[in-house]
This record gives sequence, C-alpha cells and structure tokens, in this order.
Amino acid sequence: MYQYDQSAKLLARAKRSLAGGVSSEFRKYNHPHAIFYAHANGSRIYDVDGNEYIDFTLSQGPMIVGHNHPHVVKRVEDYAKKGQLFAGQHLLEIELAEKLQQLIPSAELMRFCLDGSEAIQTAFRVARAKTGKQKFLRFEGHYHGWLDNVAWGLSTPSAAALGTREDPTFFPWTAGLPDHVQDEFIILPWNDLALLEKTIKEKHLEIAALITEPIMCNNGCILPREGYLQGMRELCDQYNITLIFDEVITGFRTHLGGAQKYFNVIPDLSIFAKAIGSGYPISAIVGKKDWMNLIAEGKVIHAGTMNSSNSTVAAAIGTLEVLESENVISRISKLGLQLMEGLREIGRQNKSNLLVQGPGPMFHTGFTQLPAVNDFRDVLAYDKVRLNKFIAGMHDNGIRIIGRGLWYLSAAHTEEDIHQALATSAKVFKQL
Ligand SMILES: Cc1ncc(COP(=O)(O)O)c(C=O)c1O
Repeated sequence: MYQYDQSAKLLARAKRSLAGGVSSEFRKYNHPHAIFYAHANGSRIYDVDGNEYIDFTLSQGPMIVGHNHPHVVKRVEDYAKKGQLFAGQHLLEIELAEKLQQLIPSAELMRFCLDGSEAIQTAFRVARAKTGKQKFLRFEGHYHGWLDNVAWGLSTPSAAALGTREDPTFFPWTAGLPDHVQDEFIILPWNDLALLEKTIKEKHLEIAALITEPIMCNNGCILPREGYLQGMRELCDQYNITLIFDEVITGFRTHLGGAQKYFNVIPDLSIFAKAIGSGYPISAIVGKKDWMNLIAEGKVIHAGTMNSSNSTVAAAIGTLEVLESENVISRISKLGLQLMEGLREIGRQNKSNLLVQGPGPMFHTGFTQLPAVNDFRDVLAYDKVRLNKFIAGMHDNGIRIIGRGLWYLSAAHTEEDIHQALATSAKVFKQL
C-alpha cells in the first residue's frame, strides 16, 4: 500500500506560500491529496515518497511521446542554447508552421500562443470580426479553458437543475465571473443535431461562432453521433457561422491532422495545444485564410511577449518528429483498444456496471446503468463514489489515472504496462 507522508508534509508547507498549495485548481484533486513528484521517465512518474506509477494521466494529456523523450529533450537543449526568447522571428518557427500546414487540413495560416485558453479567445475574436456577429454557441460539459466567458455549463447542483434541453440553465463554475459575459454565449446539450438546427435557425443572426470539442473528451470521452459534425459544418456554412474545433485534446492524438482529419470534417478555425509541445507552453490557432487573414492584416490583434519562444518551438518540432517517425498514433490506438477491452472483460467478470468509452488513444471509465453515454446529462448519472474508489485503489497500487475517469496512452506505454494496469484493475475491482 502506498504511503504519501512526504507529499502531505510538502503540501502543508506549500499552503503557506501557494494558494491552496498548488498552481492549478485541478491539481488539488489528486488521491489522497495534491501529490508532489520527483521525476518522470517514459511511461513512469515517481513521487517524493518514492512511489512509482504507470502514468495514464500524461500530465492532463501533453506527454504524448512519454516523459523525458530523449529526442524532444535534445531538440530543446540544442535550440535553447542559441537563446531563449528573441521576441522576433526565427527559422524554426516557420518550419513548425510549414509542418502543421502539411498535416492539418484547415491550417492555411496560423499563430502560436502559450496555451489552449488564450488561443480559444483569439478564435472568438476572429469569428466576431469575420461575421460581424457577437455570440458563440457552445455545449454543456465541453471545457474550453478557464477564462470568464467559457467558465459556465461545466458544473451543476443536479441534473434536474439544468432544466429543459431547449433552454438549458447554466451555472458559473467559479465565483468572480462578470455577469455580462453570459450575454456572449448560447449553450446547448451536445450530440443532438435536431436541437442544434432548431436553435441555429432561430438565433443565427446573433451567432458568430460554434465551438465544439470534436470528441467530448472532458466529460465521458464521447464520440459524436454519426453525421453530427457534418451537420454542424452544413449549418455553419448555411448561416454564416464560424465553425471552431477545440482540438486541444484530440490534436495529434486521434490523427496527426487532428480530429478534423479523423472525421473528415474541416472547421474554419481550430485550436491545438497540449500534445503539440510535450509539456512546453505552446498552442496554435490555425485556420482558413479567409479567417486568419484578419490577423495577417492586423484587423484582429493577436499578441504575446512569450509566444513561440525557442524551447517551446523546438519541443513542438521534436514532438512531431517522434510522432511521425515512431508511428505513434496507430500504436497508442492499438494499445488503448486492448486496454479498453481488457477493462470491459474485468467489468463483466465482476458483474460490474463499468462503461468504457472512447476512440482508444484516450478513453473514459465510469460506472452507470446506461448502455452508452451521449452527453453531459448522461455523464451526470455516473456513480462518482464508485469511480473515486476505483481511481484511489488504482493509485494506491501504482496506476495513475485522471480523477474523472479519463485515461491517456503515450508512445512510451508498452504491452507490459497494459498487462500491469489490467492486473491491478482486476485486484481493485475485487475491493470495490
Ligand atoms: C478541450 C480543451 N480545451 C481547452 C483547454 C484549455 O487549455 P489550457 O489548459 O492549455 O489553457 C483544455 C484543457 O484541459 C481542454 O481540455
């Protein structure tokens, strides 16, 4: 059984200088409390108590080639020696942009930013400027960063409190949000094309953009229903609405060209972050020329002192090189599907209501009587107490999974890691 005494001591100390002892809210909610890590390598991460974990969190997704990949580390080391931040242009930055142009269907032009949250706000700005309209339409349970106008519709006191599907009630995720940002968006349940069509027909004169995670990764890892994304594309074309894909999770994980390539639905703008930089702060807003030219011409301002610093660009180039040369996506799909099927089998053997959903490179485990989970309202029916017990049991036995039941696969995971995770699951299921 793992002990966490050193982490507990450091957390008590950290609370005297860091608010809540952490630097991001999500880090508080580890088991049994925020954990302090000492080092990581490949598929493994080690905490200050000396506990070793097979890491299926991949630090919330970015570590797609595994921790400390030697090629990425070398790329960063070599390029950072030449300088850290020029706040001017450099050659590698063009090479990265050209590479992304080749890979991502909608990437006619792009700009680099630091993280997903700010790149998404850039996309809203471009969409408003392009269409002359003000609002964006988004979906219950989709996470688009932590900033004011998207920090709604992520939590609710109960499923019933969400009200009707046609006119949902949404709740602030945090104190301190300005009331007026509620005028910026319309929110709907996801995966319901008829409802989307009805709403767009009624309200299209107000709607500048529609933003979606192409796979609802943040809640339940839910795939879009057949025809849903295509339907979105058609509605956006018909009603002069900018289609934005938030590919912060799906990017470089479902396909090297993103979910847009995986599903063959091409958005006008899209956001890539997380896996692009192997843990270095880089994101990209990419899009079609008709949209991105607004930035090129300076009609829409996008800026940032720290954008495209040397180490972040080198990390992204290094990551893409590994993804391409090591055939990572097909490997992590195969391993992910194997792990998903193994977990389902353990669920069956234990007569459990375990539901395993997702495309493979990432997937979700939860406990529910529902045969499938299709939107946020379904997600609310998951048995959270059971999931927490499962996640805690896995953690105490060396398997690190994101607390809400999300698993990520990386290039560093091996068949042996999958067997170990399944053997541990079988043991933990007996204790549930
Ligand atoms: C789908 C999605 N969009 C946007 C974000 C925000 O990205 P960041 O945390 O880099 O600001 C996240 C982060 O988890 C995400 O999962």
